[in-house]
Amino acid sequence: MRTKQLFILLVTSVAILLSSCQYEFVVEPELPPIDPTVDIKFATEIAPLFESNQCLACHKTGGTAPDLTADKAYASIVPALINSADPETSLIYWYPHPDASTHNFKKYKKADAELILAWIKQGAKNN
Ligand code: HEC
Repeated sequence: MRTKQLFILLVTSVAILLSSCQYEFVVEPELPPIDPTVDIKFATEIAPLFESNQCLACHKTGGTAPDLTADKAYASIVPALINSADPETSLIYWYPHPDASTHNFKKYKKADAELILAWIKQGAKNN
C-alpha cells in the first residue's frame, strides 16, 4: 500500500512539474512587410527619419559628421556610408542600428533601420 501511494505521489509530482514547463512567448508587434517592388523615396521617406529619430541634434550642418539635415543628407550618405556589395554593412544602416554596439548615442527605431536597409538594397537612389 505504501509503495502504491508513493508511486501515485511521484507520478503526480512529475506531471505537475512537466505541465509547469510551458513557455509564454512574448511576440513583438509585427511590422508591416516592406514591399521590395515599391520604390522607397529618399526625400519623403528616408531623410525625415533622421529628424524623427533625433539624429539632427548632433548631425547637423556645422555639427558632427555626417550632416543629416534634409538638404545635405544624401551627399553625406552616398557613397561614403553605403556598401552596395553588402548592404547590411553599410554604416548608415548598421552603425546606429538598435542591435549594434557601435553608436553610443541615439539609435534608430527598428522599423526605420529596416526601411533604410531596403532603400539601400534598391540602389540608394536620390529620389
Ligand atoms: C548625441 C550626439 C549624437 C546623436 C544624437 C547621434 N549621433 Fe551619430 N555620431 C555622433 C558622434 C560623436 C559620432 C562620431 C563618433 C563615433 O563614431 O561614435 C557619430 C557617428 C555616426 C556615424 C558614423 C559615421 C562614420 O563616418 O563613421 C553614423 C552613420 C551616425 N553617427 C549616424 C547617426 C544617426 C542615424 C543618428 C540618429 C539615429 C545619430 N547618429 C545620432 C553623435 C551623435
